[in-house]
Amino acid sequence: MKHLTEKTRTFVETASIEERIEATRKFKWIGYTNAAQILKKMEDCLNYPKSIRMPNLLIVGDSNNGKTALLTKFDQSHLAYIDEKTDKLINPVLMIQAPPEPDEKRFYNAILEKLFAPTRTSEKIDSRQSRVKNLLKHLEVKAIVIDEIHHVLAGSPSKQRLFLNVLKHLSNELQIPLICAGTKLAFNAIQSDSQLANRFEPRILPRWTNNTEYKRLLLSFSMVLPLKKESSLVEGSIANKILTYSDGLIGEISKILELSTILAIESGAEHITNSIIENIDYIPPTQRKKAFYN
Ligand SMILES: Nc1ncnc2c1ncn2[C@@H]1O[C@H](COP(=O)(O)OP(=O)(O)O)[C@@H](O)[C@H]1O
Ligand SMILES: [Mg+2]
Repeated sequence: MKHLTEKTRTFVETASIEERIEATRKFKWIGYTNAAQILKKMEDCLNYPKSIRMPNLLIVGDSNNGKTALLTKFDQSHLAYIDEKTDKLINPVLMIQAPPEPDEKRFYNAILEKLFAPTRTSEKIDSRQSRVKNLLKHLEVKAIVIDEIHHVLAGSPSKQRLFLNVLKHLSNELQIPLICAGTKLAFNAIQSDSQLANRFEPRILPRWTNNTEYKRLLLSFSMVLPLKKESSLVEGSIANKILTYSDGLIGEISKILELSTILAIESGAEHITNSIIENIDYIPPTQRKKAFYN
C-alpha cells in the first residue's frame, strides 16, 4: 500500500470496513498551493504591527469552494489559551459568521455570543459596540475572521454603506485586521467604497480547472482515502470525469471522492475507477436545478 501516507496505511491495515467508511466521511484537510498562500497572508495580517492602516483580507469564491474550510483551518491553529504568567485568557483569533442580513445589532451579538458574553435584546447599539471593543481588547484579539460577509453587504445601497462603515470603524478603532470571506457580491460591495477597496486585499479561490494544481489535489486526496489498492485519479479520463461532475468546486470533488471511496470499499474493488464513479449515487450540481424544474 505504497500509495497511502504512513498514517493512512497503518489505519487501513487494521481497520474494519465500517471503520474505514466512517473515516472516509470525516473531513480531512487537504493542503493546496493557493490555500497555503492565503494561510500565509492570514498569518501576515495576524502579526502586522498595530497601525492606523491595518491590512484586511477578503477571500472571494463561489459557494462550496473551500472558504469556510480555509478560515477554520486558520482559526484552529490559533486557539484561545491561558497566559501562564498572568492567568489571563488570550484569544488571538476571533471567528464569526456574519448574520444573515445587514443588521448591526445582530453583528455585534454574533461577536458577543462567540465570546460567551451575555446579550440583551434591549441593549442599545452603542453599548453593544463598546462592550465588543472592550472584550476584544481584553482578550487581546489580533484578528477578526468574518465568514459569509456577503450577507451583511447585501441589500440596498444605504444598508450596504452602513455596514461598510461598521467594518471600517471596527478595523480603525481597534487596529485589528479583518479577514473576511464571501462571494463575488462582497467583492463588488467593497469595491464600491474606495477607502475599503484600498485596504481589503482580495484573494480569489477560483474554480478548479484541469491543470497541474488540480492533479496535485487529486493525488493528495488519494493518499488519505482508506483504500487498499492504488486509484489512478490523475489519469486523464478519471481526472476529467471528476472535474466535469464537480463543476470545479472542491466541495463537490471531495463529495465525489467520498462516495466513490465508500463504493470501492463496499464492492471490494478497493480502488476508484471510471466505473465506480459512474455508479455512485450523486447528482452533479449542474443537473440539480434541472432535476428540480423538470
Ligand atoms: N482544503 C480542503 N481539504 C479537504 N476538503 C475541503 C477543503 N476545502 C473544502 N473542502 C471540502 O469542500 C466542502 C465545502 O467547503 P467550504 O469551505 O464549506 O466551502 P465555502 O465556505 O466556500 O462554501 C467542505 O465541506 C469540504 O468537504
Ligand atoms: Mg462557507
